[in-house]
Amino acid sequence: MCGIVGYIGHRRALPLLLNGLKRLEYRGYDSAGIAIPHEGKLHIVKRAGTVAQLEALLSLTDFPATIGIGHTRWATHGEPIDRNAHPHVDSSGRIAIVHNGIIENYATLKAKLQQDGYTFHSDTDTEVLAVFIGALYEQYGNLELAVRTALSEVQGTFGLVVLSADHPDLLIAARRGSPIVIGIGENEYIVASDATAIVEYTRSVFYLTDDEMAILTRSGCRTKTIDDVPTSAQLLELEFDLERIEKGGFPHFMLKEIYEQPQTFRDAHRGRLLVQEGNVKLGGLRSVEKQLRQARRLILTGCGTSWHAALVGEYWIEELARIPVEVEYASELRYRNPVLYPDDIVIAISQSGETADTLAAVREAKLRGATVLGIVNVVGSSIARETHAGVYIHAGPEIGVASTKAFTSQLAVLMLLALYLGRMRHLSATQAQEIAAEMLRIPEKIRSILERSELIRDIACQYAHAQHFLYLGRGVNFPVALEGALKMKEISYIHAEGYPAAEMKHGPIALIDENMPVVVIVPRDELYEKVLSNVEEIRARRGKVIAIATEGDTEIEALANHVIPIPETLPLLTPILTVIPLQLLAYHAAVERGCNVDMPRNLAKSVTVE
Ligand code: F6R
Repeated sequence: MCGIVGYIGHRRALPLLLNGLKRLEYRGYDSAGIAIPHEGKLHIVKRAGTVAQLEALLSLTDFPATIGIGHTRWATHGEPIDRNAHPHVDSSGRIAIVHNGIIENYATLKAKLQQDGYTFHSDTDTEVLAVFIGALYEQYGNLELAVRTALSEVQGTFGLVVLSADHPDLLIAARRGSPIVIGIGENEYIVASDATAIVEYTRSVFYLTDDEMAILTRSGCRTKTIDDVPTSAQLLELEFDLERIEKGGFPHFMLKEIYEQPQTFRDAHRGRLLVQEGNVKLGGLRSVEKQLRQARRLILTGCGTSWHAALVGEYWIEELARIPVEVEYASELRYRNPVLYPDDIVIAISQSGETADTLAAVREAKLRGATVLGIVNVVGSSIARETHAGVYIHAGPEIGVASTKAFTSQLAVLMLLALYLGRMRHLSATQAQEIAAEMLRIPEKIRSILERSELIRDIACQYAHAQHFLYLGRGVNFPVALEGALKMKEISYIHAEGYPAAEMKHGPIALIDENMPVVVIVPRDELYEKVLSNVEEIRARRGKVIAIATEGDTEIEALANHVIPIPETLPLLTPILTVIPLQLLAYHAAVERGCNVDMPRNLAKSVTVE
């Protein structure tokens, strides 16, 4: 949520900042800006709109400075207009900051500063922080002390970088609740809100922890807490290549990521599935093996798409391991005064590893004594670091705002977990072998669905101007119905609802008429006949049925208006396949409607605010 980039070194900062902002634009894209020192002053150029629009504004400018900061914004306080764009400056205009997060006590701070005669020019909480830092700098004449003092009085969250015209050899970065990663090059540092802005310059990075700050000069870097206690940074090597964050010939990141799924699904289980032994090896869980053996209940939590993956996980774990599983939105769990026992295992699922609600749920569960695990994509992210143990999904950077490959990789890991827990209990090696062997065949099956993209595009184009879509599925495919509906609404802005198919008659059926497309997930499984009856009910009301069905199913062909076939697989594993056509359906509908698929309105990747 919001992208931050800062640079200090020997290269010209401006092109590097703009490049970094383009890489980070998926995190927020309603306005963008930069601050650069030039001829003894800070130059702030910012505007509502995209980074490309900012770049056009800067096209005639040539700042030679080798230090600067930039920001691409997802509005929290104040609408997305020029004056609310970052960077924000203090009253002297000589100190600039870029900031992610929310300053919760900004109103109190602002009132105090106004009493002291300071004025404000934006509606943002960030400007209040900039002016506060400036006021303390006037008092102390020491920038580092001013930043530390301000941050210790601030309530809320921040990932920020401070630049001052008085100190053209100094950047100060700090974090509480909003990620900051610092890339280390030869006599240069790149500060960013995520590693995608860094990887083309260096792979050597470290992450700030909460309430930690970094003081960066061209000749070195110090880290300390905001209470002035020195800390030592833990260096990491970034694991992904530049090509993972480029479109690679695809028109959109989302489409590229949909097509990466045969590979990413395989990467998620590579080296972990022991097919011959009918077992699973999850090195990240070794330290909590005892707790997992003794667990009497699992609570899976997450938000959005990750929550949908959790729902599939609930079916799988209960079926294969026979442990009761509860699934709860992280945003609800954190505030619900939940009953948690020491032998409960809470599992937080998150692509970014930074989602504020999920992170808060992790902290709450830890406070209450539960063992807390993470199923996370971004290595080194907050949730990965704060959980007791966990499993990375290894999907590589997901840039498309609508999550696709992370979902199927989360499913891969959840199935591994279900097998792992199952084998600790009653699941036979033969059953586990059968599932493991089929997991190995899934990538080819995903590929064969991707080959049907044209068929799916034709269907999407026929219904792209519908006002509503209904998605129905049963059992393990009910969460897929929810996920299909979420994909449709977030990128095409068509209203869509997902329901368990049998619930249709308890209300949603009232919506069905000849204008209502209904996507029905109806693979050949034990509930097939039941779902077929729902299809009949939809037809009787002249609704348009788009069926996701098993290849060769002639019965459904006779009933549905359109059939998107998926290869046969084990009934339990069908969600991994049925979700693929739904991702493509949403994608093609959005493109047909002229929507900006990679930057859907009002959304941003990685929701680091409540
Ligand atoms: C939907 C989507 C969101 C995220 C949700 C959780 O396409 O991307 O619903 O799934 O914001 O994000 P993570 O998984 O990063 O915690």
